[in-house]
Amino acid sequence: MLTSSLQLDTLPTLQIDVIRQVTTCQTIEALEALRVEILGRSGQLTLLKRNLKDVSPEERPAVGQALNAVSQAIETALTEKKTQLEQAALTEKLRTETIDVTLPGLPSVVGKRHPLTLVIDDICSVFEGMGYSVLDDNACPEVETEFYNFEALNFPEDHPARDMQDTYYTEVAKNVLLRSQTSNAQIRYMSAQKTPPFKVVAPGRVYRNEEVSSRKYVLFHQIEGLYVAENVTFADLKGTLNTFIAQLFGGSPRKTRFRPSFFPFTEPSAEVDVECLFCGGDGCKVCGHSGWLEILGAGMVHPNVLENCGIDSEKYTGFAFGMGVERLAMLRDAIDDIRIFYNNDQRFLKQFNPAY
Ligand code: PHE
Repeated sequence: MLTSSLQLDTLPTLQIDVIRQVTTCQTIEALEALRVEILGRSGQLTLLKRNLKDVSPEERPAVGQALNAVSQAIETALTEKKTQLEQAALTEKLRTETIDVTLPGLPSVVGKRHPLTLVIDDICSVFEGMGYSVLDDNACPEVETEFYNFEALNFPEDHPARDMQDTYYTEVAKNVLLRSQTSNAQIRYMSAQKTPPFKVVAPGRVYRNEEVSSRKYVLFHQIEGLYVAENVTFADLKGTLNTFIAQLFGGSPRKTRFRPSFFPFTEPSAEVDVECLFCGGDGCKVCGHSGWLEILGAGMVHPNVLENCGIDSEKYTGFAFGMGVERLAMLRDAIDDIRIFYNNDQRFLKQFNPAY
């Protein structure tokens, strides 16, 4: 404690000592630590100043002056050193960060959209051109209940048709599954909207417990279509799908074939084939020598499905269709193995579409 003029004698030594330390500081951090140690809230000099009140009134002015002089000298030394260190740091930075403008540039990798996304976008925009709205994926969950995936779609309980689509059940609850078809979108959308007309397409991912092969994978994409209004007929369905197929495959009409089929949620139901794009109908490996390629399922919405969604099936009719995106992509871009969409091989992915 600085209580007498005697201790004034120690101040010059303190000053010299501190200033010597300042000049030998190598880093801004060390300098700051030193500043705190001497001039900080509980620094040596700060404490001495705080004790000034204990010095006798006669001696106080001289002691005070001496203290101020010391702290000023130290502060000046600190500031000078700081400027010096900062300057040195800057010089070093400029030296090490010089840019060699003669070096070749680094290529910047720009991501591209996945080929499946491209096909989905193309399909949706054909339908948008026909007045359809595209439903957001979130509106129709991939983790779904049996009710939306089957029951409301007129699949009776224990009906073998449920086995047609080898469904993955979850362990969340007995009735919770990974949707096996985007047709849940029909139910979700109609029961939320209540009043037709409805004219929507719903793209999304679906899951089936399939034996993986070049044509089948455990997950794939579908696009569901739904048109419900007054007086919608099967002729409207045919016209819509023929227009769509012509547009997706290059703008000119293509031969199609509607084969009778069965889905519990449509009546009548059909599977639609397009003339083989590879052999033009003569028969080749891709079409299994039949001359036709199956591309989607469709039909008139079953009255029970409309009623399940609270829609008057006497007043309204409609059609629905569901198509496999991978299949269409494979046909359009002559891809012979579905697995290639999912193994992230850059050599494959890079071939698609310029950067956007
Ligand atoms: N959901 C059917 C399937 O996945 C396809 C379909 C959709 C059929 C809509 C008719 C109407 O096989």
